[in-house]
Amino acid sequence: MTVDHFLSKSYDCSLDEGKIICEAPSNIALVKYWGKFANQMPANPSISFTLNNCKSITSLAFEKKSNLTDFSFDFYFEGEKKPAFEGKIQTFFNRISPYLPFLKNYHFTIKSENTFPHSSGIASSASAMSALSGCLMQLERQLTNLSETDFLNKTSFLSRLGSGSACRSIAGPAMIWGQHANTPHSSDLYAVTFDHLHDNFQNFQDTILLVDKGEKQVSSTVGHELMNNHPFAQNRFKQAHQNLDEMKLALSSGDLEKFIHFTESEALTLHGMMMTSSPYFMLMKPNTLSIINEIWHYRQTENVPLSFTLDAGANVHLLYPDKDKNKVFEFIINRLSLYCQNNQYICDHIGQGLTIK
Ligand code: DP6
Repeated sequence: MTVDHFLSKSYDCSLDEGKIICEAPSNIALVKYWGKFANQMPANPSISFTLNNCKSITSLAFEKKSNLTDFSFDFYFEGEKKPAFEGKIQTFFNRISPYLPFLKNYHFTIKSENTFPHSSGIASSASAMSALSGCLMQLERQLTNLSETDFLNKTSFLSRLGSGSACRSIAGPAMIWGQHANTPHSSDLYAVTFDHLHDNFQNFQDTILLVDKGEKQVSSTVGHELMNNHPFAQNRFKQAHQNLDEMKLALSSGDLEKFIHFTESEALTLHGMMMTSSPYFMLMKPNTLSIINEIWHYRQTENVPLSFTLDAGANVHLLYPDKDKNKVFEFIINRLSLYCQNNQYICDHIGQGLTIK
């Protein structure tokens, strides 16, 4: 499939006004996307669990306008007008306007909020961009006919143009983004659902330990760019293809040992890429390392399949089976929360992706 597939046939903007609400979750990558080419094309395929509780709730009110030369919108975040975000939305609208012919016909009032604290160090671009894309696609669906598959694929396609990882927040329980030889229908343009999860992963838990809630010193966008001249980039991209094979096998067979090995290796490789780029940087904090050591010790002594992953920051995602919840919780409260800022953590688990309200 090429980008032409997502160009809409022309249609009348028959609706004068209305309002759409969409909720979209964040996701956590198991095989990481790190490195991209022009037009938000990933340098390697990735797979993530879709989350459930950490989400953005976005409303899009639209009314027809007569001046069709420019985009027109107001943006509010958690009740307040946020001019700082307007540039991002303007860029997003520019990127997606070839695919949504109605964009200049309406004035939009966009109101968004997150269920997680915005100063938590959790990247909100995935949930925010997929929620906004969901609203826009729901409007397109009201203006023209779209099958459910076309709706989901195009919502993922648009989300990707907002933020790469956002394209994996559309459906659940897990999504694969990026062309991969052994994944039929996989594409660099949008994410596809991976639903062969073994029972061992049903309602899998993700507790996010908030180690550092501050602004990151290096944004993901800059980090991706640093993969361009990275001495290990080609091997890393090749490895991600192989690790995706292994991860799919672990997820479908219920092999928790394999899952732990590849999940943790991917997390450390991501941070290894950061530490070996030029300029080099480090997003882990001393408490991130203390937590990792605690997890390794706990796994050995308690025989619970608890593992970790990291995104581009210092926070630690704890991944574990639903059935071990109570035991792991004791460990979190008694030991791991002591490494968190103000002892804070967020409880989440695998979810099903965006919903239109
Ligand atoms: C480390 O999707 O935030 O979380 O495409 O520039 O918006 P942009 O980057 P972004 O990068 C996410 C990187 C990651 C790994 C992942 O989610 O796969």
